[in-house]
Formats: sequence, structure tokens, C-alpha cells
Amino acid sequence: MQSILVTGCSSGIGAHCARRLKEDGWQVFATVRNPEDISTLEMQKIRTLHLDYTDGASIHSAVVQVLKETGGTLDALFNNGAYGQPGAVEDLTTDVLRQQFEANFFGWHELTNLVVPVMRRQGGGRIIHCSSVLGWIPMRWRGAYNASKYALEGLASTMRLELKGEGIHVCLIEPGPIRTRFSENALAKLEENIDLENSVHAVAYKARIESGKNKSGAGRFELGPEAVYAKLRHALTAKNPKAHYGVTIPTHVMNFARRFLPQRLVDRIIVSGE
Ligand SMILES: NC(=O)c1ccc[n+]([C@@H]2O[C@H](COP(=O)([O-])OP(=O)(O)OC[C@H]3O[C@@H](n4cnc5c(N)ncnc54)[C@H](OP(=O)(O)O)[C@@H]3O)[C@@H](O)[C@H]2O)c1
Repeated sequence: MQSILVTGCSSGIGAHCARRLKEDGWQVFATVRNPEDISTLEMQKIRTLHLDYTDGASIHSAVVQVLKETGGTLDALFNNGAYGQPGAVEDLTTDVLRQQFEANFFGWHELTNLVVPVMRRQGGGRIIHCSSVLGWIPMRWRGAYNASKYALEGLASTMRLELKGEGIHVCLIEPGPIRTRFSENALAKLEENIDLENSVHAVAYKARIESGKNKSGAGRFELGPEAVYAKLRHALTAKNPKAHYGVTIPTHVMNFARRFLPQRLVDRIIVSGE
């Protein structure tokens, strides 16, 4: 049985993928940030460990536990747990930006680097990162999240080249809008970490919060997390997995636009699509 470690499994993409991987016969190690979420997953018979990317000790102890239970091997890692910190770049304190990078970038790096020697020792493995279309194109008020995913794209793409020929494949999945708790969690981060009252964007923030809270139903191009799972499965099982997997129409459209259209036009498309 092949083993996989999946992070951020309390909800959304991580929760869905952990469940589907188990159904598909993988030995799944799911991780959650809040220890209270462990019992929910364990009730679904999914082996669950605590891992918070902002807490190095929790990353190390999760890996130690996984290796103890597998006898020292791990076939795949799906780095997935993250959050979006909204807010105009001028309203991001350095601390808030740093927190975003701790969770979305440095923690992923720490975990990945613990897993690479294990995969090298066993002669191969798959490292899949859940990036985003926002690792390819910018969006207003998404600067912190954009920067964390752009950084991830750079680091993971470099590692892909460095591990070539060792049987360790590094892949990036690039979802557009997926139906999860992501927007709800991001809205909470906007209220928690941005000085809304004293910003020049105060009125616009208020409108954004209201529309977020009143949002009902799916967005036009939104897909369920199963769309991400289909790409994850390919990345895990294909003989030659792709470097990048786009998910949703907006991702494919923006990939085309950024490669072939002038930046001024791309900017206009991005702003008009908000
Ligand atoms: N949904 C989208 O539209 C979309 C689009 C593009 C990319 N993505 C990417 O998809 C991945 C999964 O997000 P989702 O859409 O499934 O959102 P979600 O429902 O909000 O799930 C995010 C998961 O990440 C966990 N997490 C947050 N901070 C963490 C930390 N410091 N350490 C470990 N885990 C942490 C959350 O745990 P808690 O419940 O404890 O907070 C939760 O389990 C993310 O990498 C995100 O960037 C999502």
C-alpha cells in the first residue's frame, strides 16, 4: 500500500482528498492545525496527526510519527494547508505578511525538506503542492497570498529541476475558485489583521465584507474539491506527471492571457473580473 501525507485536512480540498485517497487504497496520514479536528477525521477512519506550518516542532513530530508507522518510508506528500490574507499591500503590516509566509511558504519548505531524504533513500516519491492561479497572476487586495504562492512557484519549480533523474517528482496544482471554506476564512483574516477603519480603502473593505457575508450559492466558475482531486490523482499515479496542473476555467484563461497578451490588457481583464 502506498503512503501519503496530506496537510490541511480539517476542511475543503484537504478533507476531500484525504477521504478519496483512502477510498482509492492509499495509506493516508492526514494533518490538521487544530487538535480538536483530529477526532472528526479519526471517526471517518482517517489516520490524523497534528501539524501547524507555523510550528516547526509540530512539523517534525508529524513526520517522525508517519515514519514510525510506515517503517521509514513515505511515497507522497501533498502540501495543501494554507490561508488567504486579504488586504491592500499598503495595509499589510510586515508581521501580517510574515505570518502569511510562515503558514503558506516556510512551513511547506520545512516539511518538504524533511521528506526529500526519505524519498531519496527509498529511490523515489511525489511531492505535490497546492498552489493557485494567484501564483501566476496578481489580484488587487491579495498581495500577501499572491506573494506566498509566487514564492512557492519559484521554490518548487527549482526543486523540480534539482531532483530530476532521482525519481522524485515535484508538481504544482493551480486551482482557480474551488468551493471550500477558503473565502470565509480569508474574510475573517481581513477583519482580524487589517486596520479597516483607518485605511484609505475603508469603504471598499466594508462593501467587500458585506458582499462576502451575504454571498449565497456557487460562483460562476467555481468547482468542487473533486476537480482538484482528479489532478492530484494524475500527479500521483502518472508515469510522467506534469509540472503544473491547472484547475477551473479561470486558471486556463489566465494562463493563456499571461503568456500571450500584453500586460496592460491582462491587468484590465483581472480588474474587470473581480
Ligand atoms: N478554495 C479556493 O478557491 C482555492 C483556490 C486556489 C488555491 N487554493 C489552495 O487550496 C489549498 C486548500 O485550501 P481550501 O480551499 O481547501 O481552503 P480551506 O477550506 O480554508 O482549508 C484550508 C486548510 O488549511 C489549513 N491551514 C490554515 N493554516 C494552516 C497552518 N498554519 N498550518 C497547517 N494548516 C493550515 C486549515 O486549517 P484550519 O481549519 O485549522 O484553519 C484548513 O484545513 C490552499 O493551499 C489554498 O491556497 C484554494
